[in-house]
Amino acid sequence: TAQELALPVGVTLDRFIMHSQSAFPYATGELSQLLRDIALAGKIINREINRAGLVDIAGANGTENVQGENQQKLDIVANIRFIRALKNGGEVCAILSEEDEDIIHTGNNHGKYVVAMDPLDGSSNIDVNVSIGTIFSIYRRVTLISEPASMADFLQGGRKQIAAGYILYGSSTMLVYSTGDGVNGFTYDHSLGEFILSHKNICSPAHGNIYSVNEGHYNSYPPFVKNYISHCKSKSYSGRYIGSLVGDFHRNLLKGGVYLYPSTKTDPKGKLRLLYECYPLAFIAEKSGGKASDGFGNILDIIPDSFHQRSPIYIGSAEMVKDVIKL
Ligand code: AHG
Ligand code: MN
Ligand code: MN
Repeated sequence: TAQELALPVGVTLDRFIMHSQSAFPYATGELSQLLRDIALAGKIINREINRAGLVDIAGANGTENVQGENQQKLDIVANIRFIRALKNGGEVCAILSEEDEDIIHTGNNHGKYVVAMDPLDGSSNIDVNVSIGTIFSIYRRVTLISEPASMADFLQGGRKQIAAGYILYGSSTMLVYSTGDGVNGFTYDHSLGEFILSHKNICSPAHGNIYSVNEGHYNSYPPFVKNYISHCKSKSYSGRYIGSLVGDFHRNLLKGGVYLYPSTKTDPKGKLRLLYECYPLAFIAEKSGGKASDGFGNILDIIPDSFHQRSPIYIGSAEMVKDVIKL
């Protein structure tokens, strides 16, 4: 909004959210509060991740302590922290998480929103001190307020997201989100305990020279993906693959590039989950001028049928995604 654009880099996330809300005189502030809850969860997870090497919380552990205090895999800890923050916030009636088969009812049946999330993305990087992330997607519920949320609230489709974003725990911690117009990035300042607007109105470069794909699976990719990889090599593009979707996506968003997770012979639907990985990042891609496709059509137009369904994804700079499909 014009209000957001008027704000200088360096303002706090709280101030930014307040300012955005004032552009809508009838806004109740509930979405604003929800975004603050997510930021708080991000700070808490950031703290856990930062001590991962010191305490015995990185790595698998069979025993599960429901409190999530210690000796748990970090993605379980992140899941518990996130759910707790959203429950306490009160704006969310139900949560869908990668870590749980079914939806989680928060007990706040009057909450207007539902959240789908991948509390910790990039599991293989947790134990080796490489960037990981959190991904979230927000819908306004479609079921009756005061009743428990249902499947329908989560299966609205990508176009119905009212906000989405991610937190990247990298060389610094960043929150990047959009509520529909424009994408903004906030860097966490540890000394202040605040997210600070650092990347205002992020615009995805139309083209770039980075391609991100797990080439180890090359032999089982569809022909058009193999062709595209050859195309990248003929142009001497840089191959960059962290193996953390959030990190790979974020780098390509800033520098220009394309991320591919194709279907394979064994996984015809690819690996990434539609509701809490593909949709939210496709939302960010599109709101920043980029693009996301499953090889046939726009990711956001896929009609979902189950909570944990997967989809192939080609996402990033608009022209590069078009090139993938063209081949
Ligand atoms: P998660 O850790 O939530 O299960 O997801 C990991 C995802 C994604 O972050 C990454 O891009 C991809 O898995 C990497 O998969 P490969 O190891 O098959 O390349
Ligand atoms: Mn994931
Ligand atoms: Mn995960």
